[in-house]
Amino acid sequence: MSFYTSVLRPALFRLDPERVHHLAIGLAARAGAVAPLLRAVTAVDDPRLAVTVGGLTFPTPIGLSAGFDKNGDAVASLAALGFGFVEVGSVSAEPSNGNPPPRLFRLPADRALAVAYGVPNAGAAAVSRRLAGQRLPVPLGLNIVGTNRGPGAPVICDDALIAEYMQAARLLAPVSDYLMFNLSCPNTTDGRDFFADPVRLDAWLTALDETDYAPRPSFLKVSPLGGVAMIEQLLEIVGRHRKITGFMFNLPSGKPAGLTTPRAVWERMPGAVSGPPSAALLDDCLVECCRRMDRGRYVLFASGGVSTAADAYAKIRKGASLVALLTALVYEGPGVVRRVTRGLLDLMDRDGVKHISEVVGVDVR
Ligand SMILES: Cc1cc2nc3c(=O)[nH]c(=O)nc-3n(C[C@H](O)[C@H](O)[C@H](O)COP(=O)(O)O)c2cc1C
Repeated sequence: MSFYTSVLRPALFRLDPERVHHLAIGLAARAGAVAPLLRAVTAVDDPRLAVTVGGLTFPTPIGLSAGFDKNGDAVASLAALGFGFVEVGSVSAEPSNGNPPPRLFRLPADRALAVAYGVPNAGAAAVSRRLAGQRLPVPLGLNIVGTNRGPGAPVICDDALIAEYMQAARLLAPVSDYLMFNLSCPNTTDGRDFFADPVRLDAWLTALDETDYAPRPSFLKVSPLGGVAMIEQLLEIVGRHRKITGFMFNLPSGKPAGLTTPRAVWERMPGAVSGPPSAALLDDCLVECCRRMDRGRYVLFASGGVSTAADAYAKIRKGASLVALLTALVYEGPGVVRRVTRGLLDLMDRDGVKHISEVVGVDVR
């Protein structure tokens, strides 16, 4: 048991989850000055873990998933926890209040969260200003989403939504190392199904091809629902275009089967479920996508329930070049980043692996 799990976590879990989230970001934002010192202690500096993707070098494959630092308030401190990359967002072209609270819930029996934030954020212009001049020791990703104007707002037309993504990309590319386009927010009405339509996805990718944002490796975060047919459709459509370097699967909307938390409890919680309960579905998508994609052209990010080195190693063996986590920070505390990263080296030693890239996708036949 760590100090976090024995002392801090019980105290924090007495407070409202969103309040704790804001406290953590506020604290991390103020700790930026000591970040380089902290990183000297936490970072696992070993060339066997360095991953090159889209021309970018990630010192380790273990990073922070989107949703923790939504506005880029605390990137220096978060990088100092020992992450190999930090992803900010989701950020939309226009500011958004997201969904009405309460919108973040704990499911301790499942070591999971139910999240229904609906992508609140300060908007691309404000986030771009905040991150200008920021120099991090690891790649900084910007996760971009359509603006959530709330359930009562008029539906905007396809062209306007596509234009919004491109506007946000133009503003955020100069302050980022890579872009992750979130085409699949499970908690907004527009975001959920829009890009399941092949015509819209093709139009979106055509607009991206034509957009003159600073060249950055660009990835798509897509829905895990839709099975193999949806993955094949995605690969077929993306294959006709130029700018996409890889994929990641988002949380599914709704509640996964087999939760330990009683139905009477989770039924009252809106939103998608993160952490271990969503891992099996996300891993299936990872494997099916890895099996079908051109591995010389695309790479995969993975997330979903990673809290140990074994979890991360398994996802890498199932096709992930990069692994992102978020929920484990809440349940295990900040020390989880170094434990997972160090533990990867132990697993590689056990298996006689000289570089992490040797095992990417080895379990996919
Ligand atoms: C509180 C919370 C907020 C999130 N917000 C976003 C978001 O804004 N954009 C996004 O692409 N994913 C978001 N996610 C999904 C995570 O990036 C990640 O893909 C997912 O939670 C699975 O990883 P985990 O089990 O390690 O949390 C969020 C997840 C959580 C728990």
